[in-house]
Amino acid sequence: MSSIPGHRKLHLVLLGTILLGYFACLFLLYYDPSTSWALSPVNSRQQTEQSNDIVSNRSNDDVITLLMWTWPSEKRGELNWCSSRFNIEGCFITQDRNFYNKADGVIFLHQYIYKNGSNLPKLRRPVFQKWIWLNGESPTRSVRIPMIENLFNLTSNYRQDSKIPVPYGVLVPADGKEEFVLPRKNKLVCWIVSNWKPIYARVKYFNEFKKHIKVDTYGSAFGVHISRKEYLSTITSCKFYLGFENSIDRDYITEKFYNPLSVGTVPVVLGPPRHNYENVIQGDAFIHVDDFSSPKELADHLLLLGKNEEMYLRFFEWKRYFKVRRIFFLTEHVCVICEYLRKHKEYQTLSKFGEWYWEN
Ligand SMILES: *[C@@H]1O[C@H](CO)[C@@H](O)[C@H](O)[C@H]1NC(C)=O
Ligand SMILES: *[C@@H]1O[C@H](CO)[C@@H](O)[C@H](O)[C@H]1NC(C)=O
Repeated sequence: MSSIPGHRKLHLVLLGTILLGYFACLFLLYYDPSTSWALSPVNSRQQTEQSNDIVSNRSNDDVITLLMWTWPSEKRGELNWCSSRFNIEGCFITQDRNFYNKADGVIFLHQYIYKNGSNLPKLRRPVFQKWIWLNGESPTRSVRIPMIENLFNLTSNYRQDSKIPVPYGVLVPADGKEEFVLPRKNKLVCWIVSNWKPIYARVKYFNEFKKHIKVDTYGSAFGVHISRKEYLSTITSCKFYLGFENSIDRDYITEKFYNPLSVGTVPVVLGPPRHNYENVIQGDAFIHVDDFSSPKELADHLLLLGKNEEMYLRFFEWKRYFKVRRIFFLTEHVCVICEYLRKHKEYQTLSKFGEWYWEN
């Protein structure tokens, strides 16, 4: 209910922007000495007609209209977040399907697309419109749907080679060269996990690992509820955090890695190979399970580091120059997509999209 007045307001803002744009165009037409007078009467009438018909044509102004077609329902509500949260202006984001004919981009969150395709748009696609496939899950955890494989123009995903890449985190320059102060630690190794399946590589690894070292475990997999507020402070209180991914896929490096890095805890990762992590951060900022021949060897090494402050602190040298910026899942994707569409109005299509994601 609360979203209705918000929508009206957005419509008004949009109309206002279009009118402003129209008057600005008129101003330029009549005052720019290089503009031919002969063109103006006919053109300005055509422009008026186009501008009034906002629901069936791409708007002539700089506002990018993005329609979220398959999307989690709880995200309804505040829709003007690109400006307020990311300083990206000129994005009109809506879940109102009446904007279909006008939308510059239509976003499909993969996990909400029905396997039978019955919840895809039935209307003809406007010639200028781009369909964007969005997915935050790994290929191992995403159902492949062959019938959608030649529908999209763009991909937005954590994969570095997607058209509009949005990773789970990024290393940015630190504000100044402050000395890193290690937060207080009262635990050696911790893990917070909810999704527990015996076939997961991380579960197999952990079952062997825990025989050799004490691990403080939290999350529903262990029946220990942890609130959002306690989440980061718990990670902070441990020297090492098990950043074990639920599947092993290229570039699939998630918040399980960026959370400990951002709070001053060393991540111990299980995921894609070490060199993949080194694409995003210095090699001595984390520990990779592949560096050890067995879970026991890893456990012995962590026990040693736990007793040697000097060796442990070396993991944080990068912190003098960089800090982690964590990405806001979905909300940030939408705004990055908006910016991308503003810069790319050319024809675009994907070749072999399904093979790209699921087969390599
Ligand atoms: C397609 O799948 C959805 C969700 O599984 C279901 O609700 C719907 O009835 C199906 N439609 C057809 C035409 O089979
Ligand atoms: C988007 O991709 C589809 C499917 O390949 C294609 O039919 C359509 O013309 C493309 N549109 C644009 C604007 O690139």
